[in-house]
Amino acid sequence: MGEVQAAVVVAVMGMVMVVGVIGSQAFTLPSPWGYQCVNNTCVKKLADGTLPLATLNECKLTCGKMGVLWPQPTSASLGSEVAYFLPSNVVLQPSCRGEACSLLQEAFAVFRDNLERYHPLYSNGKAPWMQPWQPDASAHSLVVKVTVTIPEVKMSLDTQEDYLLEVTTAGGVTTVTINANTFFGARHALETLTQLIEYQEIHGLLMVVTSASVRDSPAFSYRGLLLDTSRNFISVAALKRTLDAMAACKLNTLHWHITDTHSFPLYLDTLPNMVYYGAYSSEQVYFPADVREILHYAKVRGIRVLPEFDAPAHVGNGWQWGEMQGLGKLAEPWQSYCVEPPCGQLNLANPNMYSVLGQVYKEFVDVFGPIDLFHYGGDEVNLNCWNTTDEIISWMTRNGYGLHADAYYQQWSIFQEKSHKLLTAANKGVEVPGILWTSHLTEAGRVDRFLNNSQYIIQVWTTGHDPLIAELLQKGYRLIFSNYDAWYLDCGFGAWVGEGNNWCSPYSGWQKVYDNSPHQMALNLTNSTYANLILGGEAALWTEQVDDHNLDAKLWPRGAALAERLWTNPPTGWKQAEFRLIHHRQRLVKRGVLSERIQPQWCHQNEGLCYL
Ligand SMILES: *[C@@H]1O[C@H](CO)[C@@H](O)[C@H](O)[C@H]1NC(C)=O
Ligand SMILES: *[C@@H]1O[C@H](CO)[C@@H](O)[C@H](O)[C@H]1NC(C)=O
Ligand SMILES: *[C@@H]1O[C@H](CO)[C@@H](O)[C@H](O)[C@H]1NC(C)=O
Ligand SMILES: *[C@@H]1O[C@H](CO)[C@@H](O)[C@H](O)[C@H]1NC(C)=O
Ligand SMILES: *[C@@H]1O[C@H](CO)[C@@H](O)[C@H](O)[C@H]1NC(C)=O
Repeated sequence: MGEVQAAVVVAVMGMVMVVGVIGSQAFTLPSPWGYQCVNNTCVKKLADGTLPLATLNECKLTCGKMGVLWPQPTSASLGSEVAYFLPSNVVLQPSCRGEACSLLQEAFAVFRDNLERYHPLYSNGKAPWMQPWQPDASAHSLVVKVTVTIPEVKMSLDTQEDYLLEVTTAGGVTTVTINANTFFGARHALETLTQLIEYQEIHGLLMVVTSASVRDSPAFSYRGLLLDTSRNFISVAALKRTLDAMAACKLNTLHWHITDTHSFPLYLDTLPNMVYYGAYSSEQVYFPADVREILHYAKVRGIRVLPEFDAPAHVGNGWQWGEMQGLGKLAEPWQSYCVEPPCGQLNLANPNMYSVLGQVYKEFVDVFGPIDLFHYGGDEVNLNCWNTTDEIISWMTRNGYGLHADAYYQQWSIFQEKSHKLLTAANKGVEVPGILWTSHLTEAGRVDRFLNNSQYIIQVWTTGHDPLIAELLQKGYRLIFSNYDAWYLDCGFGAWVGEGNNWCSPYSGWQKVYDNSPHQMALNLTNSTYANLILGGEAALWTEQVDDHNLDAKLWPRGAALAERLWTNPPTGWKQAEFRLIHHRQRLVKRGVLSERIQPQWCHQNEGLCYL
């Protein structure tokens, strides 16, 4: 800092005071600019001392009906005043029993850490808060009273995630009262509370909205994000960062597409050959302890981790050891018949394949359990693969099947039925709903012949206007939407096989992600009778072109746009959400997520002016 040249006098929050200096090389606060809330919009104005202006953050917190809450709650009313406080003056007063209590303590520690992170100089859990300029601010405390009624903490499709949150302020204490049935609801409320708080850069303190009333519950019970860790390995640290961002958006399911043809990174105690042959390297392996750590990390943040074991296609690496162990070929690398290299499908003619598969399921359930859902994958089976292998052809013939498509579909459905039995056995006889991708097996005229709609949920990855959606709904299948034309986040980049752009181009911007409404798509194709069969949706990030280094920018803030569609399901489109999303993106960055920028910072400072 150079020599002090001038003291600056500005109006801050209606008070004229000397609060900053301008140096010769840099400038310090305050800014000559301030903000006024006009018509629910923060308007940037020159602080000439005539107007009571707020800082940008204070204006964002208090201006408009929803402040900068993301996702938008079911209903909220926020006061227009803030109180200053230090993170050291925040206390939790829990009322709970059982596991809900211990998780609440952990969720509260996350909440406190997120408060520390509002400081621009946050590092390693701490931030250099300034000495308060008035005694009130140093004494002001934030008391968070949380009541959770249900002691058990179990995520399922029926879990109640709703909560009530009230903020009141009197006599130097801001009291937050949170009521929720489950730990998950209480955790969501703490996230909402984090978003009623911001950094006050002039005084180097935090500020909280002094009065608020929020009533909130999600529109959809399944709000997911898919990550593929087979095409490229994603580190445990990056998975945790993804969970942090999901928690900030109230997404509740990390669908972990762990394995595929390319690599098998999950260590299985009784089948160590899977990673030995299938992992990219000894460094790129998830051990059971890693998985358990991820599961707990997710649970504290209100997220279920849903494992997928994709079969009978999308296998290959990891399965090469069968013949060496005297078990025959477990999977075949059918090089020329698949969607992308390398290819592979399980060998239906080999009964040993089922013993190994059953063991894989057992290990999955052991490490991921208790499970409430399981994803069987089940997509992109290529009949030519099976139909060009002597072993399979002679097995089909021996068993009296023709070599026509229908015979193969039947074999595929038998494979699925056996898989379901093996998984249920692995889960100690407890049946859980299975999820399957749309495929040739789920096509019109075939699906209800082969798949029981009370056992299977279908994850739709067609376009959002595919007539199959209506067919599935009319036949009573529960659906999860991942229509690739909006919710595949890997689309719109350069091809990795050949030239041009990748198969599912173009890129879906956050606006398209936001406006992709499952109810509206279903309504467009049929009628509203089937709305309750739609469990929710999920954005998928397939990682052919992704690893730790570019993961965040592909996921965020588009994942946040998805989250508001699934939590709030607003009747309005992206335009009404834009100014809150820009702010939420800043919040994600403070949490260590390298989210993409979607606009110049000027638009964050000049609300509503970035339209043509
Ligand atoms: C506020 O918005 C309303 C309706 O959009 C408009 O009629 C009014 O002129 C606006 N007021 C100001 C001060 O901009
Ligand atoms: C399997 O191959 C035979 C020829 O070997 C062919 O007649 C039949 O149509 C093929 N089946 C499928 C489903 O492609
Ligand atoms: C479908 O699955 C349910 C639950 O497992 C079972 O009760 C029912 O009998 C099955 N229906 C058919 C037609 O197999
Ligand atoms: C539903 O159909 C209308 C009219 O064709 C279209 O404008 C809209 O984008 C569709 N909505 C969705 C979510 O596909
Ligand atoms: C909705 O569509 C289904 C199938 O097309 C039809 O059977 C049903 O009568 C429709 N319901 C309404 C309320 O229009």
